[in-house]
Amino acid sequence: MYTAQQLERARTLAYKHSGITLGANKDVMIANRLDKLKRDVGHDDIDAVLSAIEHGRHIETFISSFTTNKTNFFREEFHFDDLKNRVFHEAIEKGGEFKIYCSASSTGEEPYSILMTMEQAKEEYSRPMLNYSLLATDIDLDVLKHASNGVYEWNKNAEDFPDWIKPANYFKRRPHPSRDGDYLIKVKETLSRRVRFNQHNLMAESYPFKNEGFDVVFCRNVLIYFSQADQNAILKKLFRTLRMGGTLYLGHSESPLELSPYVERYGQNIFVKVKELP
Ligand SMILES: C[S@@+](CC[C@H](N)C(=O)[O-])C[C@H]1O[C@@H](n2cnc3c(N)ncnc32)[C@H](O)[C@@H]1O
Repeated sequence: MYTAQQLERARTLAYKHSGITLGANKDVMIANRLDKLKRDVGHDDIDAVLSAIEHGRHIETFISSFTTNKTNFFREEFHFDDLKNRVFHEAIEKGGEFKIYCSASSTGEEPYSILMTMEQAKEEYSRPMLNYSLLATDIDLDVLKHASNGVYEWNKNAEDFPDWIKPANYFKRRPHPSRDGDYLIKVKETLSRRVRFNQHNLMAESYPFKNEGFDVVFCRNVLIYFSQADQNAILKKLFRTLRMGGTLYLGHSESPLELSPYVERYGQNIFVKVKELP
């Protein structure tokens, strides 16, 4: 078990390095994360580990231990339906490059779902030459590495693909090295060449891509880890990267908060920018 002081040091570090706010009801979770941290750092003395982090060492390991990376392919599928059936037509009308930003991409299932949706839409609407790109960022280097490798377990994910997606079009398959009857699937190059993975902390003072003018921004199931004040600050910074008329997708229990006067709601947690922030 950990002392109240050790838990508090972990809370302070989590906020400092990621903005993640861990309430008083999260002691068990913090304890589990500290167990993982000790294993990953390879040191059993938690005070020594916390001191090292306070002095600037093992920061990436600490961040990886404290982030929650739960995700899956086509999570909240209605957002991908909207991307294919409404937003894609804007891409056709607009011409030029269509730019999408996925701001908490975790192990890659969400950005690859976006890419599969765009590829499927290109086929459905006979627009093979449509030009689009995706920037995917996360704070956690471990998940970014997993995402760039693009390798997943088939049995774990098979149920997540909607009827209108044929995984064989987008993944190569090979037998699982240690589980009979299972496969590993790897994203094909036709898909992976469309995405750039970068590390980015949503709490950063300014965003390096703020003049990008994204057509679509995904920010799903990450705001919930921040305080309301920080959620507002992040939403405003993200909003400035979105072009007028662009679409913002939020997670199922997230809301646009102070952005409300500047957006129009198009469906479940789908918001279109109708006004610039002052
Ligand atoms: C629960 S996952 C959600 C993944 C995906 N967006 C989805 O909806 O399935 C939350 C992700 O947010 C990332 N994250 C947490 N704090 C962050 C921060 N300050 N900046 C950027 N990403 C952060 C975590 O590393 C994690 O991969």
